Order: sequence, then structure tokens, then C-alpha cells
Amino acid sequence: MSQNGSAFPPLSEDNKFNLVAGIVAAVTMVASVIAFWWIWWLVQPAAAAPIPSSPVYANYDPAHKNLKPESLAAMQAYTEANEQPQNVQVLKGWSTAQISAYMVAQVSGGLKVDCSYCHNVANFADDSNPKKATARAMLLMSGDLNRKFINKLPYILEGQKIGFEITCATCHNGQPQLTAGTYPRAIQNSLPNDFRLPLDRNYPGGVVITGDKTKSLDEAEINQNVMYHMNVSLGQGCTFCHNARYFPATGVEQGGRDQKHYAILMLQMSKYMKENYGSIMANKDPSCWMCHQGAVIPPGAAKPGQIPDVLNRSSRPPTP
Ligand code: HEC
Ligand code: HEC
Ligand code: HEC
Ligand code: HEC
Repeated sequence: MSQNGSAFPPLSEDNKFNLVAGIVAAVTMVASVIAFWWIWWLVQPAAAAPIPSSPVYANYDPAHKNLKPESLAAMQAYTEANEQPQNVQVLKGWSTAQISAYMVAQVSGGLKVDCSYCHNVANFADDSNPKKATARAMLLMSGDLNRKFINKLPYILEGQKIGFEITCATCHNGQPQLTAGTYPRAIQNSLPNDFRLPLDRNYPGGVVITGDKTKSLDEAEINQNVMYHMNVSLGQGCTFCHNARYFPATGVEQGGRDQKHYAILMLQMSKYMKENYGSIMANKDPSCWMCHQGAVIPPGAAKPGQIPDVLNRSSRPPTP
């Protein structure tokens, strides 16, 4: 305690100097830190767009307005009368109640149609509606794609490993027929060939241009169209998949990004879909937009547990 009643002793000239110098130093330091962050903020590379935290198909209707009350009544009656299904070829090992729940949530829900779109609701085992045959082929296709391709993806969301998978809504997004086509609406018809993926080629290598003098200017243009297609479809820039200083690098082991590996896998999957399932898909050409719709995780992808075990990425194909 000092003698003059103040809590602090009077400052000597030296101490005043030190105090002022200290304050000036502190202010300069804070200002330079702020300036540093401001400049960093100006020059930093564009961050990848945040991955949506709820990527599962946002448009499922929890009220199921797509379902007619008489179909739901028929479902209940059928489930009570037949504890076990009478005519399933894919969804084996499930009770009728489990199948019905899946039909409501993923099949009718993903296409936003009533049960009667595929079924004779007087007898759900009846196969007379050709849409049911198409749907059965679609079940098999979903399982096949999950096992062959999606199985090799990282499934990463916000740093956590989550296994997203293909389900009906992944391609259908709430409509039975893809009336707007499978290409980015924003650029449809506005640029050459709707940005169609050249799926008659093999990947990797189909649109590579570096180091090959025989590749013409047309090839460079095809490459640009495909790259732009991917940018728009995933809502990302080139650096999502590339090291912008060296585009030919694939994967971190070559100084590039792993996303390019996944994009090659997806090109292979799109080609495989066209070649093996073109006829059931009304010959609509697969595209990245078809599932991704402008997002890294397709909004219609399923989380683990939302699709039957026989269709998920670790399943075995159903025995005929
Ligand atoms: C897009 C077509 C489609 C729609 C819509 C659809 N289903 Fe199905 N459903 C199928 C297919 C395909 C099977 C056969 C699956 C198999 O072979 O494993 C099936 C099988 C079933 C079965 C098993 C029948 C049996 O005993 O073999 C039931 C029950 C069923 N569906 C109920 C429903 C209900 C209830 C709805 C409406 C909420 C519905 N489905 C909507 C395509 C559809
Ligand atoms: C049939 C639907 C479908 C099509 C078509 C499709 N994708 Fe995907 N894609 C998915 C699903 C499902 C995932 C799984 C997300 C996850 O868990 O990583 C995915 C994941 C990815 C990923 C990994 C994202 C990450 O880092 O986790 C990339 C990259 C990607 N797709 C690129 C493409 C490109 C490029 C095309 C077009 C050549 C394409 N996809 C076509 C369904 C599709
Ligand atoms: C890989 C993409 C993809 C997946 C996954 C997919 N579909 Fe399809 N589906 C299509 C395309 C493309 C068409 C052709 C649509 C058109 O005619 O425009 C189609 C057509 C159909 C049709 C015939 C529609 C009509 O009115 O002609 C039915 C029924 C159908 N799908 C059911 C399903 C069911 C059920 C699932 C889930 C088990 C499913 N699809 C999963 C791509 C897909
Ligand atoms: C979703 C991932 C993805 C995005 C986004 C992307 N690319 Fe690519 N890029 C690839 C893949 C995969 C290949 C290799 C294709 C092949 O093997 O035929 C490639 C190849 C290339 C090549 C040829 C490299 C070589 O070896 O000759 C160039 C150049 C290129 N991309 C530029 C771009 C530019 C510019 C953008 C932005 C407008 C872009 N890419 C966006 C995945 C992507």
C-alpha cells in the first residue's frame, strides 16, 4: 500500500516511458496480427464448399402424401394375412412387415409414387405390372453398384467415416421418370452436346491430354467439357480433385488429390451403368449430375442401415 491514499505509487519518468512503450508495442503487435489475418483472408485459396450436414434425400415426405389411404389399408391387410412374403427374388430374409416399411420409406418415398404404380394392391405378390419388373431390376442394379463401386469410396462426412450408398432416391430424387434428363439443368443445351460424358472411352485415360502430341484441339475441348460437367455436378472447383500446378497427378502419392481417384472410379461406374443397365434406364445416359445434383454427397444417398442388407455395399448378391 502507498502512503498517499492511492492504490498505486506515483510513476517515475522511467516507468511512464516503459508503460507507454509497452502499450505501443502491444497495439502494434495486435495490429500486425490483424493485418496478417486480413491479408491471409484475401489471398488464401478458395476453401471447398462445406459438405451438407444432412445429406440424406431431403425431399422424402414424412406425411407420405404420395400414398393413397386405400393402398395403406391394403398393405396392412396383406401384412396381417402373410407374415412371410410370397414372391420375393431380391429382398430375401425379410418379413412382409419389413418389406412394407422399406417400400414406404425408400421405394415409394424415393420415387414419390403410390404402391399401385407397381403393384396390384389386391395382391402384392402379383407380378403382372411391368413396372414391378423394372423396379426389381433396379433393386439388383443398386446392390450391384454399391458392391462394385461405392464400396471403394471413402464415405467421409465432416471428418467422420459414414457409408453413403445408392438407393432409389439417389438417381430418382422423387420422380419415377427423369423428365428433365440426367444433365445439369443450368447448362443443358447451352454448351456442346449437353456436356455428355464420353462413356464410350475407357478410364483412367479417356480424357487425358498431357504428353500425347496426337491429341487434337478437339480433345482439349472434350476434356474441358467433362471437367466443367464435374465442377457443376459436384458444386466444386478444379482443386477439389486437382493440384492446380500439375493436373496430370492422380492421388496424394503423385502430389495430387485422392478425389481424382474417386472421380475415375465414378467415371468407370457411369460407363458400367450405361453398358449394363442402359435398357432398364430408358437409355438415359448416366452423368455425375444425375446423383450429385450439385453436391459432394448426393442428396438422395442413403446412410448405413437405411437400405436392406442384401443391397448394401458389403452384401453378397442374392442367390437366384
Ligand atoms: C417402384 C415399384 C414399387 C413400388 C412403388 C412399391 N413396390 Fe412393393 N415391391 C416392388 C418389387 C419389385 C417387389 C419384389 C421384390 C423382390 O422380388 O425381392 C415388391 C414387393 C413387395 C411386397 C412383398 C410381396 C410378396 O409377398 O412377395 C410387399 C408386401 C410390398 N412390395 C408392398 C409395397 C407397398 C405397401 C408399397 C407402397 C407403400 C409398395 N410395395 C410400393 C416394387 C414396388
Ligand atoms: C449412381 C449415382 C452416382 C453417380 C452417377 C455418380 N456418383 Fe459420385 N457418389 C455417389 C455416392 C452414393 C457417393 C458416396 C459418397 C461417399 O460416401 O463418399 C459418391 C461419392 C463421390 C465422390 C467422393 C466424395 C468424397 O470425397 O467423399 C466423388 C469425388 C464423386 N462421387 C465424383 C463423381 C463424379 C465425378 C461422377 C461422374 C463421373 C459421379 N460421382 C457420379 C453416387 C454417384
Ligand atoms: C443408378 C440410377 C438409378 C437407381 C439407383 C435407380 N433407378 Fe430406377 N430408373 C433410373 C432411370 C434413369 C430410369 C429411366 C427413367 C425415365 O424413363 O426417364 C429409371 C426407371 C425406373 C422405373 C420405371 C419408371 C417408369 O415409369 O417407366 C422404375 C419403376 C424404377 N426406376 C424404380 C426404381 C427403384 C424401385 C429403385 C431403387 C431400388 C431405383 N429405380 C433405383 C435410374 C435409377
Ligand atoms: C470431380 C473431380 C474433378 C474435377 C472437379 C475436375 N477434374 Fe480434371 N480430371 C479429373 C479426372 C478423374 C481426370 C482424369 C480423366 C481420365 O483419366 O481420362 C482429370 C483430368 C484433367 C486434365 C487432363 C490431365 C492429363 O493428365 O492430361 C486436365 C487438364 C484437367 N482435368 C483440368 C481440370 C480443370 C481445369 C478443372 C476445373 C474446371 C477440373 N479438371 C476439374 C477429375 C476432376
